[in-house]
Amino acid sequence: MSDIQSLKTEFTKKIKEKINKQELDSIKTELFGKNGKISSLFKNLGNLSADQKKEFASNLNLLKDDLISLINKKFSDLEIQEINNKLKNEKIDVTLPGRTYFNGKIHPVSQVIDEVTSIFSEIGFSVEEGPDVENEYYNFSALNTPENHPARDMHDTFYLDHSKNLLLRTHTSPVQIRTMLKSKPPFKIIAPGRTYRCDSDQTHSPMFHQLEGLHIDRDINMGHLKGCLYYFVKKFFEVDKIKVRFRPSHFPFTEPSAEVDIGYKIEDGKIKIGEGDKWLEILGCGMVHPNVLKNAKVNPKQYQGYAFGVGIDRLAMLKYGINDLRSFFENDIRWLEFYGFDPLDVPTNYRGLSR
Ligand code: PHE
Repeated sequence: MSDIQSLKTEFTKKIKEKINKQELDSIKTELFGKNGKISSLFKNLGNLSADQKKEFASNLNLLKDDLISLINKKFSDLEIQEINNKLKNEKIDVTLPGRTYFNGKIHPVSQVIDEVTSIFSEIGFSVEEGPDVENEYYNFSALNTPENHPARDMHDTFYLDHSKNLLLRTHTSPVQIRTMLKSKPPFKIIAPGRTYRCDSDQTHSPMFHQLEGLHIDRDINMGHLKGCLYYFVKKFFEVDKIKVRFRPSHFPFTEPSAEVDIGYKIEDGKIKIGEGDKWLEILGCGMVHPNVLKNAKVNPKQYQGYAFGVGIDRLAMLKYGINDLRSFFENDIRWLEFYGFDPLDVPTNYRGLSR
């Protein structure tokens, strides 16, 4: 009996101590293994008298049950502890400040397209697109620029075949025709995109970007054009007052035609938009020529409107002080790191266009 009691005291204590699963396993073997303490006691039962045997066996069974349930309980406690430790180590503190991700930047051209789109969409323009590879008809003829018209030479066109039918569009104006042909007036659209001319220097790149605007309705006049462009330049350059000049010009697809200059000055070596006595051309515009409307199946007696074409890269250079156009397309990661924009700062009119 005293054997049983002392075994119970000894092992209850051992099991309750701070041990791991392996140690618990060896305690189990020490007790119930082939030559374990409890197994040996069971083997010795044979040496006892019948009376002693009965009492001893029942006490021994009680001890065995007690210790086994203690071991099982300890085992599941250890398992729970193990899981909890694992969870604790894998825990993520979601309140920690995030790491800034430095790699991706928005190119100034994409930024300006987003800004301009935001500005025009607020006054009801929707966005259209056209293909970079155009045919001669949409790029020239439909725009009232017939073959042998001198304006064709001025565009330094990249032709893609000998018959001079396929070409890389020299401006975004063919989107005017495509838009009008595919539905019915009124039209109020902008069309940003890539354009191509065989030209390259500090302010010209063989691939550049334009934004076309077209507004056709029953009673649209030059006043609407001016109002729209004033609104645009003020919003875009984020100034309240800006000097804008409409200068008479010529485009085959508009009549009358104008070019728009904005006032600027150089202060401390930096360009300051909106004041001063220097002028910079930023876009071409005019009232859509009746021939263009006819070619696009719009009746010029009922409908009229204005169109404009803005140089997007020019706008980006002016607003963000970048002085070589060619650097836009060199894919220098350090340049983009410096001039690029945060991808999460989407330009909107109400939150601000740029920061
Ligand atoms: N397409 C002209 C250009 O590229 C710009 C323009 C567009 C002028 C629409 C008038 C109207 O120079």
